Amino acid sequence: MSLASYFLVLLPLVSLSLALVSRPDLAENTVRLQNLQGGGGLIGARDSVPAGYVAAPYYPAPPGGWVSNWTAAYAKAQVVVANMTLAEKVNLTTGTGELMGPCVGNTGSAMRFGIPNLCLQDSALGIAATESESFGVDLPLPICELKNDNYIDNTAFPAGITVGATFSKVLMYERGLALGAEARGKGVNIQLGPTVGPLGRKPRGGRNWEGFGADPVLQAWGGAETIKGMQENGVIATVKHFIGNEQEEYRMDIIPHGLMKAISSNIDDRTLHELYSWPFAEAIRAGVGAIMIAYNDVNGSACSQNSMLINGILKDEFGFQGLVMSDWLAQISGVGSALAGLDMAMPGDGDIPFLGLAYWAYELSTSILNGSVPLSRLNDAVTRIVATWYQFGQDQDYPLPNFSANTDDPTGPCYPAALISPTCVTNEYVNVQVDHNIVARNVSREAITLLKNANKTLPLSTNATLKIFGTDAGNNPSGINACNQRACDEGVLGMGWGSGTANYPYLDAPIDAIRRKAADVTFYATDTFPTGITAVTGDIAMVFINSDSGENQETVDGNLGDRSSTGLYAYNNGDALVEAAAAKYATVIVVVHTVGPIIVENWIDLPSVKAVIFAHLPGQEAGDSLTDIIFGDYSPSGHLPYSIPVAEDDYPSSVSLVGFELFQVQDTFSEGLYIDYRYLNKNKVAPRFAFGHGLSYTTFSMTSMTISSVTALTSTPPARAPKGATPVYSSAIPPASEVAWPTGFSAISRYLYPYVDDPESITATGTFSYPTGYSTIPKDPPPAGGSQGGNPALWDVMYSISVTVTNTGSVPGKEVVMLFLQYPSDSAWDTPIIQLRAFEKTDTLAVDASETVTLQVTRKDLSIWDVVSQNWVIPVSDTEPFVFWVGEGTGNLTMACESLSKSCNGGRASPVTVPAR
Ligand SMILES: *[C@@H]1O[C@H](CO)[C@@H](O)[C@H](O)[C@H]1NC(C)=O
Ligand SMILES: *[C@@H]1O[C@H](CO)[C@@H](O)[C@H](O)[C@H]1NC(C)=O
Ligand SMILES: *[C@@H]1O[C@H](CO)[C@@H](O)[C@H](O)[C@H]1NC(C)=O
Ligand SMILES: *[C@@H]1O[C@H](CO)[C@@H](O)[C@H](O)[C@H]1NC(C)=O
Ligand SMILES: *[C@@H]1O[C@H](CO)[C@@H](O)[C@H](O)[C@H]1NC(C)=O
Ligand SMILES: *[C@@H]1O[C@H](CO)[C@@H](O)[C@H](O)[C@H]1NC(C)=O
Ligand SMILES: *[C@@H]1O[C@H](CO)[C@@H](O)[C@H](O)[C@H]1NC(C)=O
Repeated sequence: MSLASYFLVLLPLVSLSLALVSRPDLAENTVRLQNLQGGGGLIGARDSVPAGYVAAPYYPAPPGGWVSNWTAAYAKAQVVVANMTLAEKVNLTTGTGELMGPCVGNTGSAMRFGIPNLCLQDSALGIAATESESFGVDLPLPICELKNDNYIDNTAFPAGITVGATFSKVLMYERGLALGAEARGKGVNIQLGPTVGPLGRKPRGGRNWEGFGADPVLQAWGGAETIKGMQENGVIATVKHFIGNEQEEYRMDIIPHGLMKAISSNIDDRTLHELYSWPFAEAIRAGVGAIMIAYNDVNGSACSQNSMLINGILKDEFGFQGLVMSDWLAQISGVGSALAGLDMAMPGDGDIPFLGLAYWAYELSTSILNGSVPLSRLNDAVTRIVATWYQFGQDQDYPLPNFSANTDDPTGPCYPAALISPTCVTNEYVNVQVDHNIVARNVSREAITLLKNANKTLPLSTNATLKIFGTDAGNNPSGINACNQRACDEGVLGMGWGSGTANYPYLDAPIDAIRRKAADVTFYATDTFPTGITAVTGDIAMVFINSDSGENQETVDGNLGDRSSTGLYAYNNGDALVEAAAAKYATVIVVVHTVGPIIVENWIDLPSVKAVIFAHLPGQEAGDSLTDIIFGDYSPSGHLPYSIPVAEDDYPSSVSLVGFELFQVQDTFSEGLYIDYRYLNKNKVAPRFAFGHGLSYTTFSMTSMTISSVTALTSTPPARAPKGATPVYSSAIPPASEVAWPTGFSAISRYLYPYVDDPESITATGTFSYPTGYSTIPKDPPPAGGSQGGNPALWDVMYSISVTVTNTGSVPGKEVVMLFLQYPSDSAWDTPIIQLRAFEKTDTLAVDASETVTLQVTRKDLSIWDVVSQNWVIPVSDTEPFVFWVGEGTGNLTMACESLSKSCNGGRASPVTVPAR
């Protein structure tokens, strides 16, 4: 979400807007609704999406409640919703407005049923904005940057990309468990994470680091295990951003909505299924309670009101039973978004923030009374919200928020955006960190990816003479939380910038951790190589460099969220620093903190650059997690969750950032399935470091590989079961009096309520102009659906592959085993040469110790999305096998099992035939 850009834009606009803008009415919503399917912003012009891309209608919204393990929660919700007034229903669907409650999002309440204002709070790596920021937004006033770091009592966990680099399902889950415990401890009902979109299609994309890596299966495991851990605490997790938000710049409609539409991600159906929606389907399968839609359009229709995406794919095909919310201010119409399946509008005042102007709240009440939104749609939205609340037991002793995202003061205005606000206890300073520093450090350490280690330069002796260069080794001299939402590149890079951040309680800088271990350490806290340095034989130089990115509302070093300015090179002239050190010292170790791939060609082959470490984004435990590795207490076991190319233009131009186009920027995913290693392999381009690459201090063998067939292959899955029943309510339009202002009600100015001034005057007009393709007749259930995530048969295990991993080296260590699928050579489908389908990480293996790991390949793993039958099909062949390549990355696959012969062999020629560099 982005508050800051709006706030900045709004300050000058507010008075103007007050004069010019009357309350939006249904007619205005209608205009926007017509725009959404037909094309044309409010001013009537925009580039059309490329030929062939269509935003197909999918109506009506499929009601929730038909999946068996939500039955009990829906039964409870049904009793409540059946008894609710229209005002109570509308309350739960709409946020109370920007800065209108303690959290970044707050719904209205329904206290007759014990349902409080639900608290929605960032982020995917920790509880954001706790007790620290004056308004949770970057006001253009210096006072707002005053912070007291001592107050911070949450953990700043390593970012998603770091978690992905561990390839450890155990750590993915444990970090999620700790994140959820902190959310619950703070009274957060709905935590805004994990992020599985963007997927990392564009190496420069600003928010890739919030997710787990540029592969749908890795991303899916990261998301699903995080969700399971978070929700174990009773917290509702939110998987986001659905979908196609692969670039930050132009992601939003510009105020006023309609002048320039948000970027359109034009994605074909097969690519959507096999890449971008895959992690979302797996999140739904894992039982996620909430989904946040993205700002951008898909095929020219905004995600917040794209009926194919929400009604069709999420709710029907993927069987999603929870609630779909807008990203902050992503909603651009009232009726249109309701019909398209949106259940919750955040932060509520989406029409014009801070002025109490909403698309829902009182407008939703009006649209029910005048018949434009069927009551059944509102009933479903509210039932989904209440059922989700019950599904996670939030009716039982769930804490209320005890912190404020708006202030670090103990008391203050309850509603900072109100003209006059009552005073509240804003912060109770509840420390929720417990021992979560341990899991944070475990993740950061296990993520550390050793890319190069010539002559076993690492690990170092603690007796070594160390010369440390680069500001990235130390802390930001202005303070670890000095930059709002970490929007600067000062000091060690523990996370990117934007809403996907948290405040640091402390930040263990690498230099401090190194000094705790080693005696002879000199630190040059500069990014310009100092003059007058004389290197002495035996000196070891460590050079710290980084590359940052973040959310579009803030710009860092000219980078507009995406790495638009620095590209894939290190910030702060990091390459020059490495090169200068390499010219002086015989042994240089480069440590990189980064949001994603950087181009290392300027120095990687310099003779003195002996070792290179990617420490990703380690969060608060940047120091000890690194020294654990460099001094050899642990062997590195991280692996690259993306490829590192030799040059950026080794990738297709379609994954470059797209620039300005009048009215709407078109971002067409013309490379289809071919992103990251899938593209490089197809085009026989060797990366510098392959997806999955990561060295160890020890060596492993993989032996005794076996394959067994578990389920007989058929090309299509067994037919899905019919849907179960869903709650049935009266469809009569409720009495208008239900949304009349209660007598004696003292309203907070600009706060959003469900109440309408003269509700009795609203009558059904029958003139509403519904979108093309609108229907109230339920569609036949899609063949690919059937339960959460899709047809349950998609997760039937078809093959099971086992391999014994033995530590053949001289120190303990962990190994990651990855399985890549190659389709039968006679398959008529165009498919990437190999695709990651499963992975496992061993426990710590002592020298000579072994562990047998088992990798399971499901029906979905073998399937291709057939756009014609709208189902997953396996290209079964009688003569050509599926080949399952097993190794520790895409770079050097030599062992494989085959499906037909059930044989497994080593010493094979890699399927990836790229010329050596
Ligand atoms: C976008 O258009 C493509 C090409 O027609 C189509 O395959 C896909 O289903 C469309 N996606 C959505 C969400 O409408
Ligand atoms: C929901 O159902 C799935 C698959 O049927 C099952 O794996 C999962 O454990 C169930 N979850 C709950 C909370 O009952
Ligand atoms: C309203 O709630 C009562 C209990 O509080 C319940 O017995 C009744 O069934 C509910 N009404 C409906 C229509 O579900
Ligand atoms: C709606 O929520 C607000 C708080 O956000 C509360 O003041 C009001 O009483 C609620 N209305 C009903 C009908 O519960
Ligand atoms: C490794 O050490 C040997 C012997 O000292 C030296 O000749 C060789 O150049 C070194 N290799 C690298 C890559 O530094
Ligand atoms: C460090 O130096 C001391 C004294 O020379 C020696 O006793 C010790 O073994 C050395 N430690 C390492 C790790 O090399
Ligand atoms: C590739 O793997 C084989 C077998 O494990 C190994 O002998 C060889 O050194 C590896 N090559 C590279 C370049 O890593």
